[in-house]
Amino acid sequence: MSRCADSRARARAARRLIGRLALALALAPAITLLPCAAAPAGSDATPGLLDFTAAERALILSHGPWPMPTERDGANRADGRPAAIAFGRALFFDPRLGADGRTACASCHQPARAFQDGLRTPLLPGAAEGTRRGQRNTPTLWDAATWRWFGWDGAHDSLWAASLAPLLDGAEMARRPDDLAAQVRHDPAWRAAYRAAFGAAPGDDDELVVVDLAKALAAWQATLVSPRTPFDDFRDALARGDRVAAAAYPLAAQRGLRLFVGGARCSVCHAGPGFSNGEFADIGVPFFVPGGVDPGRHRGLLHLRASPYTRLEPHNDAGAIDPRAVATRHVVIEPRHFGEFRVPGLRQLVHTAPYMHDGSLPTVEAVVRHYSELDEDRLHADGERILRRLDLSAQQAADLAAFLRTLSSPRLPAP
Ligand code: HEC
Ligand code: HEC
Repeated sequence: MSRCADSRARARAARRLIGRLALALALAPAITLLPCAAAPAGSDATPGLLDFTAAERALILSHGPWPMPTERDGANRADGRPAAIAFGRALFFDPRLGADGRTACASCHQPARAFQDGLRTPLLPGAAEGTRRGQRNTPTLWDAATWRWFGWDGAHDSLWAASLAPLLDGAEMARRPDDLAAQVRHDPAWRAAYRAAFGAAPGDDDELVVVDLAKALAAWQATLVSPRTPFDDFRDALARGDRVAAAAYPLAAQRGLRLFVGGARCSVCHAGPGFSNGEFADIGVPFFVPGGVDPGRHRGLLHLRASPYTRLEPHNDAGAIDPRAVATRHVVIEPRHFGEFRVPGLRQLVHTAPYMHDGSLPTVEAVVRHYSELDEDRLHADGERILRRLDLSAQQAADLAAFLRTLSSPRLPAP
């Protein structure tokens, strides 16, 4: 038996033993780091198409279809309402939302840059280098509605709560609720838009008015669904058995994909159609920041527990019947959460550099190098060891980068 066939047989055995697909591949390390890429001379070999195993194929299909079916969020009564979506859009681009009258959500989440800012950490127009706002990279808002936890540290459990935080945060819009609510009551355009969105004029309860602004902002962001990518065309061609169409997908990307779902174990965490399992992990990105450390998920959970704006609190429009509240009720804070960050989605990656929670890696190639040269001693010792140093060859690194690039569309629409 050849080395490749041998490793395939071992992998098959491992997979039979452990039912869970992604984890099974993760625990069978020998599968695809070996150069097994050449298609065997099988009867149905198609030029330009690798001969993916049934397990590889199943994993590839699990990264779609795209777009995902959308689900309304009952916690936000404005979700899906056209008037609220229009109000949210107007607010998002309005610099009067900032305490300084110059800062809009779109100042950092810039539509032309995939709703991020292209910077390591945010810096507003006119601000000096020394006055960076916050220590985390601005995430894209494409596909924002698909998350269960929001922010790099999961400090929020709904899109509206994640939209409320920047309104009140000193490093972002820095608003006082009373002042912001008064502005909504007195600005004729905002007042009219509020009434159209929520069916009544803004009342006297400042907190309620501000929460409703966040809900309108969330309703608009929930409409941001990223376009299909070359990977999606390949995945759908595989799904319908159209080998000729599938063969149009570059071979380098196919080899990179095989690594991604196989020996490099990326899809254990970067799972599903959005390429994230929605959970948190430590992949050895240093969490030291000026003056201390960024505790990541650990602080996010403390914040979530203390927040009056979670799914367990009265502003949840779904009340006691919200099925998504269960996860919030059951969070536990453990030491292992220290230094964990949310597994980011990988769609539209080409448009969202720099990467990681601190924006420390400037290119897709630098990310691949990070995983290839991983410092295993930097990782948490506890929990299941999924990551290990990959020591990719130059060819493998290029293939993996080529695959990652196919998760982006050539350009993004202007919403
Ligand atoms: C100063 C730059 C800045 C401004 C202004 C800003 N944001 Fe953000 N936004 C960020 C950063 C940085 C993060 C990541 C924060 C974290 O994880 O700690 C973020 C995170 C988010 C998230 C969570 C996304 C996710 O994937 O979990 C949402 C939603 C969001 N912002 C919406 C808004 C809205 C709505 C506004 C306007 C009310 C706004 N932001 C204003 C920089 C900004
Ligand atoms: C153990 C779970 C896990 C595995 C396995 C994993 N990742 Fe990640 N990935 C993460 C987390 C968590 C982050 C964010 C880390 C941070 O910011 O500190 C991340 C970040 C990234 C980013 C940056 C995205 C952005 O928007 O900033 C890319 C690209 C990426 N991973 C690709 C890969 C590839 C390729 C592999 C396989 C070689 C892989 N990942 C394996 C959890 C994982």
